[in-house]
Amino acid sequence: MQIRPAAALTGALIGMSALFLPTATAQATGRTTHHHTVTVAHRGASAYAPENTLAAVDAADDLGIDWVENDVQRTRDGELIVMHDTTLNRTTDVEQIFPDRAPWKISDFTLDEIEKLDAGSWFGPEFQGETVPTLEEYMDRVSDNHQKLLLELKAPELYPGIERQTLRELRREGWLDHRHKRRLIVQSFSADSMRAVHRLRPDVKTGFLGTPAVADLPEYAEFSDQINPSYTTIDADYVSAVRSVDGAHGRPLEVYTWTVNDGPTAVSVAAMGVNGIITNKPDVIRDALDDAS
Ligand code: G3P
Ligand code: CA
Repeated sequence: MQIRPAAALTGALIGMSALFLPTATAQATGRTTHHHTVTVAHRGASAYAPENTLAAVDAADDLGIDWVENDVQRTRDGELIVMHDTTLNRTTDVEQIFPDRAPWKISDFTLDEIEKLDAGSWFGPEFQGETVPTLEEYMDRVSDNHQKLLLELKAPELYPGIERQTLRELRREGWLDHRHKRRLIVQSFSADSMRAVHRLRPDVKTGFLGTPAVADLPEYAEFSDQINPSYTTIDADYVSAVRSVDGAHGRPLEVYTWTVNDGPTAVSVAAMGVNGIITNKPDVIRDALDDAS
């Protein structure tokens, strides 16, 4: 198990933030946070390391950020991996390694083939050799760093049964026990997928990615604890409308908004009452929120 100094300190803070009500938290940077807005590192700290890699998880940890977001998909041979795009070519060297395999869909490649790819060089030479993580490898690193995970099921319509498979893997890794559940949220743009997760494991906290009409919120609240919209689609009235509806666990629906990468916008959406901000630059957003509180 690899624990760097920042990870060890962050680990010592586990248990200080509740499942639904983040509390004042001393960050690993030594700063004290008095506001209640959670900062989530989008695809890891993806402004500083290649997205959805273990390096991006560690970059978030090094900044004292305990929540990371990722994207989960499935290979041709049925293995769960972490990647955003449904194709491999933007964030790996697949076009060089497998030139005849366009359009390089994840679902056309086996895990063994994907593990041959370099998922770091496109971002910077210092990340050469970084690989596409399996979900298991990713969870292990998040665990080792004592971090928390906002897990997105990406394009689940392409991968029938991925909800059950992901939950099974999370359970096997110990992430559905009482202690870990406080550190996990599963989200998707697919309402059907989140309905399935809630049906299979009603105890798991879930989020719907999007901006449903206010009139439809009670329907989403039957299977979601969060409504997670783009920050460009919300205002204070919308956030207040969402927060006024009780979610699947009987508490007010939360709002985690994305993808906010500058301090003034973060302060503005925090003032709308959002519970979390998902960002590629978690240090910038955390510091802006701290300074404004
Ligand atoms: O977590 C919110 C965000 O990840 C949703 O958009 O495209 O980056 O997966 P995307
Ligand atoms: Ca995502």
